Amino acid sequence: MRDSRGMTRRQALGIGGALGLVAATGLTSAAALARRPSATGAELRSAVPLPPPFQVPLPIPAALKPVGTSGGADRYEVTQREATAEILPGLKTPLWTYNGTFPGPTIESRRGRPITVTHRNELPVPTVVHLHGGRTPAASDGYPTDLVLPEGWREAPMRMGSGSEQSTHGSDMSMQMGHDSGHGTQDANAAMRMGDDSGQGMNDPRAVVTKLTRDYTFPLDQRPTLLWYHDHRMDFTAPAIWRGLAGLHIVRDDAEDALGLPAGPRELPLMITDRAFAADGGLAYPSLDPTLRERPGVREPYLAGVLGDVILVNGAPWPVHEVDAARYRLRILNASNARHYELEAVTDDGRSLDLVQIGADQGLLAAPVTHKVLPIAPAERYDVVVDFAGVPIGGRVRVVNRLGSGRTRDVMAFRVARKATDDSRVPGTLSTDLPAWRRSDAVRVREFAFRAGQMNSGHGWVIGGLPFDPARADVTTRLGDVEVWRLIADVHHPVHLHLVGFRVLSRRGRAPLAHDAGLKDTVSLRPGEAVEIITRFDGYRGRYLFHCHNAEHEDMGMMANLEIV
Ligand code: C2O
Ligand code: CU
Ligand code: CU
Repeated sequence: MRDSRGMTRRQALGIGGALGLVAATGLTSAAALARRPSATGAELRSAVPLPPPFQVPLPIPAALKPVGTSGGADRYEVTQREATAEILPGLKTPLWTYNGTFPGPTIESRRGRPITVTHRNELPVPTVVHLHGGRTPAASDGYPTDLVLPEGWREAPMRMGSGSEQSTHGSDMSMQMGHDSGHGTQDANAAMRMGDDSGQGMNDPRAVVTKLTRDYTFPLDQRPTLLWYHDHRMDFTAPAIWRGLAGLHIVRDDAEDALGLPAGPRELPLMITDRAFAADGGLAYPSLDPTLRERPGVREPYLAGVLGDVILVNGAPWPVHEVDAARYRLRILNASNARHYELEAVTDDGRSLDLVQIGADQGLLAAPVTHKVLPIAPAERYDVVVDFAGVPIGGRVRVVNRLGSGRTRDVMAFRVARKATDDSRVPGTLSTDLPAWRRSDAVRVREFAFRAGQMNSGHGWVIGGLPFDPARADVTTRLGDVEVWRLIADVHHPVHLHLVGFRVLSRRGRAPLAHDAGLKDTVSLRPGEAVEIITRFDGYRGRYLFHCHNAEHEDMGMMANLEIV
């Protein structure tokens, strides 16, 4: 029963279903909201037998050691390279990795202590690294055309923008892309536009392209929180993250350390992703061009997002972790391309444990907020304390996804192994430095509709009717300005702003939801919803982005420029 409903629902998730709900069938947004599907995207089915849940231990990604320190700044090195991992027991899965592992190594840093990470690209395609949630100068923010080219990249001259408008090579390339993607481009100009739109920003004159390596410098002058770093290459972010280009970055400070929150082995980062596996053990993904060299995009049924049927936490399928009967701090990131979760921690006897939220994307809340169920959209982070003290020794707590069905209903489990003393606490006041912008502080209000639309005369996802173009200034704002943005959605769109944190002001004209508390950098728009956010554009001037963090939407146009002057 549940499975057949799940199937029907999944079928309704593609463009036809999810969009039809709002657009074609003419439902009002309120009606659409009432009937909103639990997800946007279509699920890939693995072609290998899947292991039973709660067998594999939860891996904790190792912390990266600095290679050196100079002038109060730590230097790190990361090599992006192909590697093979045993994700499903007995199967070898080729991955694209940071330093050979998925997730990549965790970077642990201190607020205000700058670091430099030298990335070396030994992958077969260009890459670019973005520190999600980082308050980072534009030169290190990983703009999608600021590519690091691998050794011998054959389109290198063109992609570096050296006269590609005129070069035969450039035209050939664009023509080829137009032809490949079957849009029947008629003339060289159209072909060039195609190149501009889908050709990895090869004609972006502002792009800073490097060969083989690049130094990214992060001042980390920001509230302590869980960040993550991931690939951000124009048109190819979704498949690159899917193949493994994602890692965690934790910023800490003395004030947070002094709170007495669960720490050490009782603080666990949990990077949740979904993946699907092909018959040969490799990750399945419906790319139009599996080499990810030239032609972006995914096959038809997956245009709204790619969902996997295997849930990985820190890269392990439905893992289990042994815990003390004590409080644990779970630092949860949804690093899935398109899958949303509603997490619940359920004991053997069916009780759900309190999920005491202490932090959001951009750090600690003012005061804890208790949830029974916690929705988490792609790229969102929740910092949560769970107390296992009331669970009988030997008992199990399953973390389930109430939006899943069949195997995707399970996420991971905790086995409560032993009694233990617990001197941790969750103070009633967690932080006092949250910005309290009021609507009246805003110098302007902007509105953006996140909807299905046209890109390269095919299906795309657009903001304000337009697909991403590196050459267009979508938003220009002054450093220090406070603005209110009204964000409107057709289907689910987790909207992310680079550089700044924001507060959620309203949803559907009403008060924000309990889990909207605190300072965020990604907000989950649900089908038919309008959400207002408020922020102050401070930190650095330069060219940044805002975009949908459904990674497939992002690759298919749903990104825009945010220029701070
Ligand atoms: Cu994780 Cu541009 O984002
Ligand atoms: Cu980001
Ligand atoms: Cu979207």
